[in-house]
Amino acid sequence: MNNTSFAWLAGLFASTLSLSALASDGHEKFVNNCSGCHGLEAEGIPGLAPALNNPDLWNKLGAKRNEYIAGVVTGGLSGKLKSKGNDYDGLVMPPQDFIETADLVDITRYVINDVNKVDGAPDATLINQLKSAPKSHEDLHKLRNGG
Ligand code: HEC
Repeated sequence: MNNTSFAWLAGLFASTLSLSALASDGHEKFVNNCSGCHGLEAEGIPGLAPALNNPDLWNKLGAKRNEYIAGVVTGGLSGKLKSKGNDYDGLVMPPQDFIETADLVDITRYVINDVNKVDGAPDATLINQLKSAPKSHEDLHKLRNGG
């Protein structure tokens, strides 16, 4: 093998490694912080918490998806919700604002990009902004319903 193709292969190997390291980081943090309610693969637990593997929802939210997921993790959520044919009512997700911003960036990126295969995800600036001024649950429901 000549030097050029070796360098190319080494580069390819390194970038594959760092990509999978990123994804597994988010996965691990998701498992530690969210899976107790949302299930190990974000499949949801009927009667406890909705599925987060819900590409229809994230696609429908369009440009608002970052604000929505960042708003929910920082401010929590309560109120009626319909998700993948299941009704969630009277359940409360407590604010997860005690989780480090960098970890929330990894977790939300994991949920949006890896679990749902949808582009985009909130950055640290947006998460910090919502940590200091959390959205009301009513506003979050409006966002979810396209308002
Ligand atoms: C103590 C249980 C609990 C934990 C821990 C929890 N959630 Fe939730 N989550 C809920 C419940 C319950 C709801 C639905 C609230 C409602 O019905 O209004 C919810 C709703 C959501 C939604 C909105 C889903 C939709 O269909 O609109 C998102 C997004 C979400 N959670 C993300 C997360 C992430 C990411 C984490 C980890 C950082 C997390 N949650 C941790 C209980 C939890």
